[in-house]
Amino acid sequence: MKVSSKDWIDRDSKRVWHGFTQMSTYGDLEPVIVERAEGHYLFDVDGNKYLDAISSLWVTTLGHKVPELDQAVINQLGCIAHSTLLGNGSKIVIELSEALAKVVPVKSPHFLYASDGANAVEQALKIAFQYWKNLGIDNRETFLALGDSYHGDTMGSVSLGDGGFGTNLFDPLRFQVLRTPGYLQPNWLEIALEAVLEVKDRLAAVVFEPVCQGAAGMYMASPQDVKTFVEKCQELELLAIADEVATGFGRTGEIFASTLAGIAPDIMCIGKGLSGGYLPISATVASGKVFEAFLGPDLSQKTFYHGHSYSGNALSCAVSLAHLELFSKLEIVRKVQETSLYLAEILKGKIADHPLVKEIRQVGLMVGVEVQHNGYLKGQLGRIICKCAVSNGVLLRPLGDVIVLMPHLTFGKKEIDEMTDALLISLNSLDNSL
Ligand SMILES: Cc1ncc(COP(=O)(O)O)c(C=O)c1O
Repeated sequence: MKVSSKDWIDRDSKRVWHGFTQMSTYGDLEPVIVERAEGHYLFDVDGNKYLDAISSLWVTTLGHKVPELDQAVINQLGCIAHSTLLGNGSKIVIELSEALAKVVPVKSPHFLYASDGANAVEQALKIAFQYWKNLGIDNRETFLALGDSYHGDTMGSVSLGDGGFGTNLFDPLRFQVLRTPGYLQPNWLEIALEAVLEVKDRLAAVVFEPVCQGAAGMYMASPQDVKTFVEKCQELELLAIADEVATGFGRTGEIFASTLAGIAPDIMCIGKGLSGGYLPISATVASGKVFEAFLGPDLSQKTFYHGHSYSGNALSCAVSLAHLELFSKLEIVRKVQETSLYLAEILKGKIADHPLVKEIRQVGLMVGVEVQHNGYLKGQLGRIICKCAVSNGVLLRPLGDVIVLMPHLTFGKKEIDEMTDALLISLNSLDNSL
């Protein structure tokens, strides 16, 4: 390791607390200290170049330093960086909301902004809970959530999530949800629908990640099953909350996974790719039916008493609007559909038959390559493989023993080849040492 990165890592370890990271060993694991980026590549403090094959934790869509997105931030800085949405409006927020309304699959959508995916979920929970109270129905206080689901790290979203990632410690703080199996179980749909029928009068909402349970390790459901699930729930007048924080903005080969499944959720959570990976912004999208249940006299209890300081941040909204425009201009959805076919072909030819590979799961450009952890502690092999890929110039990060491939939506064949070559080299280096 060069002097420069060693020095930065020392300074980092002394002052920064990294999430999901054991800080006592952080420095020993040779983390990459990023200084700048160009297109699909990150550069560290020593000038080493890495292909960003995890889209900076699934947020970057079109690449880094996209001229139009850079310019949108600069232009907005010339107007205003931030003003509050509590009680007052903001021009750029109105423009973004109008543009989003044209693409979200929610009927007559209304947008409540926050900064992270977890907070979009938190807002969704509280909206669904209050919705029934506002209608004068008191007993609908339970949520149905799926096994293996992940919805973020605030206590409400942790309660909806199925644990793991070291969060079991917080079990005493979790509120109870009705949990039915996730997409890994082939009959998840039948079990969920049975449970829904049993307790429908107590349910505030059903919450799910449409088509792909990402953080679980890329577990997939057929879009048709998701459609059946949502439609049956909606027939029973239940609220369907689609958490599209990971799947939104093109990842699955449609602009939203809900679009892929052909559903119209009552509430949808968006985040991550909303700003193209530029600035923190998320939103809870409520249908007209849900929104209207909150209308009433001024200062009445029907009001949604919830808000965040940076809700509707003008810089974040400006870049999100420019991102949405570019998304359509560059025909990103079509591009993802093409690139994902190429990626599937390459994975089949190069990776699928490798002796260390147990299964490959893919929808659009969201991929999980599960490796056999024989002889290793659970999760250890995933880390070793990704570390090897990083040393070969491709930034990967595992979820346990699932190697996640989350390319920018604008990766070309060259970058897809580079990403999968690095994975193959890592697998081979381990295979030889087994
Ligand atoms: C489906 C889903 N919901 C919510 C979140 C939480 O988002 P954030 O990390 O922005 O709080 C994530 C993060 O990976 C996610 O995958």
